[in-house]
Amino acid sequence: MNMFPEDFAWGASTAAYQIEGGWDADGKGESIWDAFCHRDDSSVFERHTGDVSCNSYHLWEEDLRCIEELGLTHYRLSLSWSRLLPDGTTGHVNQQGVRYYNQVLDGLLARGVTPMVTLYHFDLPQALQDRGGWQSADTPALFDAYARFCFGAFGDRVRLWITLNEPYVCAKLGHEDGLHAPGVRGAAYRAGHHMLRAHALAWHSYDAGYRRAQGGLVSMAINSDWAEPEDADSAEDAAAAARYLAFSLGWFAWPLFVSGDYPEVMRAAVDARLPRFSGVQPAVLGTADFFALNYYTARKVRSVGVDGGAPSMKKDLGAEGVVDPAWPLCGLPWLAVAPHGLRQLLKYIKATFNHPAVYITENGFAQTGPVLMEDGERAAFYRETVGEVAKAIEEDGVDVRGYFAWSLLDNFEWTDGYGARFGLFHVDFSDDERARTMYRSGREYAAIISKHRS
Ligand code: NOJ
Repeated sequence: MNMFPEDFAWGASTAAYQIEGGWDADGKGESIWDAFCHRDDSSVFERHTGDVSCNSYHLWEEDLRCIEELGLTHYRLSLSWSRLLPDGTTGHVNQQGVRYYNQVLDGLLARGVTPMVTLYHFDLPQALQDRGGWQSADTPALFDAYARFCFGAFGDRVRLWITLNEPYVCAKLGHEDGLHAPGVRGAAYRAGHHMLRAHALAWHSYDAGYRRAQGGLVSMAINSDWAEPEDADSAEDAAAAARYLAFSLGWFAWPLFVSGDYPEVMRAAVDARLPRFSGVQPAVLGTADFFALNYYTARKVRSVGVDGGAPSMKKDLGAEGVVDPAWPLCGLPWLAVAPHGLRQLLKYIKATFNHPAVYITENGFAQTGPVLMEDGERAAFYRETVGEVAKAIEEDGVDVRGYFAWSLLDNFEWTDGYGARFGLFHVDFSDDERARTMYRSGREYAAIISKHRS
């Protein structure tokens, strides 16, 4: 029996900086990831860069071939802000960039594939970083202008929009830990606040100016681990697990879906360092047309106190997440394989955010070490994970509308460079052709799709 709704989206996701290359081709402006990877003291694995990556800027037709081979109904891609608007503002439009995305979108539609388009996947124009980036209160309005430009240019063919991808990661890794571009420290809450404001402005712009004509939906892709108490009988650990979810999923989902403000446990712990929404217009509450979830892994959480020292997010959280030894790691230290957590998180989302429609906008499994084309473990991972989604729909009544695997292709995995491969297709980075070859897990995913797609 097919428990997936008739128009269920079977997709795969990518992001501009991770696949496109062409970092300075045809008038593209520099982004913060270009600058971050080009630093002399780059902390990226083996100083890899996204300069060429999968070269999708030139080989996009190859990507379309891969999408067709998998039988995807949907494909999630991101637009490079600085490819379209080299200095980040609408004062100068790079028509070559517009042409590029037109070709990709038209190619998808010609093949019967529905695009889901992310406006921002970690790659702020460097010109805007030079003006303060996400720490600046001016950036939300600049993002809104960029969003309106994109709705105008591409919205006749796009019905599913994601404003920002994983603001948690951008705020925490990019503005707290300094591990991601722009490599800032100690500014996560401020940066995250401006991302929420940027999202809300863009949602309202769409709602007021484009929705009637284009009929699309707009959301923000929120990532979170599933968190469960380390000691199931400990009330302290239960509270710590709840805090863990509040500080990841809740940080961005509470303002959009619950109260227009951050979760109370965050307010209580962070206090004055957490910016206020009072007086902020337009409203943030209600600015998501569906729940977009990126899910990768789970944690067993215990309560920990951090005494003394400077304020930090770890101290605010007062909890620590560890990997259950029963969950195998797949190469990356943070990536414990825990498909059960997806079902739990989906149930949590249904209960906490008033039963929203949910798209799982990313989920995946990485290989590190020697390339394994016959990747049976990853194939099993996809089978099991899709099974968990089916149970969430059928047994828990969660309104799941789609599942997007991360990723279509092996690509530039941020600080891990090309050392971690998430693709359904292997990409040969040692050769100019950048040949794409389907992994066994790709064949498995294609089989799952052909069994279930209507
Ligand atoms: C989520 C991010 O959106 C994506 O860019 C990244 O490659 C995957 N996680 C895997 O780490």
